[in-house]
Amino acid sequence: MTLILAIETSCDETSAAVVEDGQEILSCVISSQIEFHKKYGGVVPEIASRKHIEVINPVIQEALDKAKIKQNDLDAVAVTYGPGLIGALLVGVCAAKAIAYSLNIPLIGINHLEGHIYANFLKVSRDQGIQASSSLKPRNLETLMPFICLMVSGGHTMLVLVEDHGKYKVLGRTRDDAAGEAFDKVARLLKLGYPGGPIIDKLAKEGNPNTIEFKRPMIEKQFGYDFSFSGIKTAVVTYVNKTQDSGLKTQDLVASFQQAVVDVLVDKTLRAAKEYNCKTVCLAGGVAANSCLRKNLQEKGQGLNILIPPLSLCTDNAAMVGCLGYYKLKQSQTADLKLAPVASLGL
Ligand code: KG4
Ligand code: ZN
Repeated sequence: MTLILAIETSCDETSAAVVEDGQEILSCVISSQIEFHKKYGGVVPEIASRKHIEVINPVIQEALDKAKIKQNDLDAVAVTYGPGLIGALLVGVCAAKAIAYSLNIPLIGINHLEGHIYANFLKVSRDQGIQASSSLKPRNLETLMPFICLMVSGGHTMLVLVEDHGKYKVLGRTRDDAAGEAFDKVARLLKLGYPGGPIIDKLAKEGNPNTIEFKRPMIEKQFGYDFSFSGIKTAVVTYVNKTQDSGLKTQDLVASFQQAVVDVLVDKTLRAAKEYNCKTVCLAGGVAANSCLRKNLQEKGQGLNILIPPLSLCTDNAAMVGCLGYYKLKQSQTADLKLAPVASLGL
């Protein structure tokens, strides 16, 4: 049995988890800072770092307590070292180094984006908000490869061909805004609140997605697997300004916007699965929590093995870090105490 303590502080969530054998979540504690950033309409890096410092130790202790284990039971510490906000990453990396050094156990540096992919391979129980295709049974990850992963978060949007552990081919990425960023910016422009993704998702449920036919950006084959979500944000604002006081319902507006984004994401993902002959497709990142995306991918991807993390594991969490940490440890991919955060770490 391998017990890994995992730490994630790349953005505005301080999270610690204890994961057994890369599959079983013994605990996953997430302390969100959203309340502190809300009034600024986005994450303020300096506030993020300070809040991580305040809660990192209690969050780690709570994760150990909930897992009913002691520090000495741990086999390794895994920590996100990028990409993310440099000051925020630094807090997690320093905490992980201190624990690895004092317990004399291996330290594992985790790429946050790679971590999101591994959120699909944790064993989840019903009470962890299980949804969609998440399984109660452990998954044999190797038998699923190669697979296509649509990575959609607040900072990144990319289509990835996962050929093996650590072997990624980025087929396409956004040329401007990430999908989550588009949700957040549209919500901000419409003064709906922060973060925009969950708010728009909820409102859109009461709207008609066919009200406005927004252009599906870069859906044409000539653009390959690249995305662009900056223009659609402007299209939403232009539409609102043009139709002022015409009785347009916000619910219909955001449902139409959401459908346009989801259509492009699903279309390109399924096209990639076909071209690369992959039977398995998975979602990763905060926008994977979007109910329209989850539903459309499953409906249009019939015949494929569609993996979607449970809601609680789509947005930032340390359990995914612990899952990936296990596979890295198995391959002896450990770090030394010189491990430093890298804000712009790529996949
Ligand atoms: O992966 P994540 O927690 O943080 C990053 O690594 O960026 O993703 C956060 C992003 C935010 O842009 C948020 O608005 C979006 O995920 N998001 C959603 C939903 N829940 C979170 N977007 C659309 N629908 C949702 N239900
Ligand atoms: Zn993330």
